[in-house]
Amino acid sequence: MNIPCKSSSSFISKQQELEQLSQEIVLCRKCSLAISRNRPLVGDGNIGANIVMIGEAPGYYEDLKGKAFIGNAGKVLDGLLQVAGISRQDLYITNVLKCHPPHNRAPSLQEIQSCSCYLYRQLKILQPKVIITLGKHASKELFSRIFLPFSSITEMHGKVFEIKASYGPVKVIPLYHPSAACHNPSLLEVLTKDFETIAGYLKK
Ligand code: URA
Repeated sequence: MNIPCKSSSSFISKQQELEQLSQEIVLCRKCSLAISRNRPLVGDGNIGANIVMIGEAPGYYEDLKGKAFIGNAGKVLDGLLQVAGISRQDLYITNVLKCHPPHNRAPSLQEIQSCSCYLYRQLKILQPKVIITLGKHASKELFSRIFLPFSSITEMHGKVFEIKASYGPVKVIPLYHPSAACHNPSLLEVLTKDFETIAGYLKK
């Protein structure tokens, strides 16, 4: 994966680098979401964590508060994390898009292309050992970045893909987006099973 190795990966420098990135994102005007959003959501959680979770984009509440997964999908996510015995403190959570698309519509290709550079800079700073992509948009984007074919989330959810980043091995695990369970309750069972299955990887 094209995530170059950082020589200084101390907690302090990570914090400083992420702070610098946040300032750039606040000033970003690369797409029209910069006009409609309230505040960008750069990321949330433990910057020293081994696991980075990548969602799609901030929703309505995330846009208001600047915190990741605090709406309905966040409630589902919290339940799944509990099943897996993982606390939010064990994670850093971010999204492909840093700004909220109006009416929670799906991100456009142009928005993803404009914004994804911020995601890859975050990954380069954070150097996670496990990357979990939530839903088809995040999974498709990350898989295209690491040159792995992505068929569909239905086919690929819960599978573990071992890749080599410049700083070491990384496990990439695509999962259904937690909001899928809000629209289709039968997927809650699938998500719960996946979180139970991957719990071992997450705790390493
Ligand atoms: N959905 C996402 O994909 N990300 C969030 O932060 C919230 C909801």
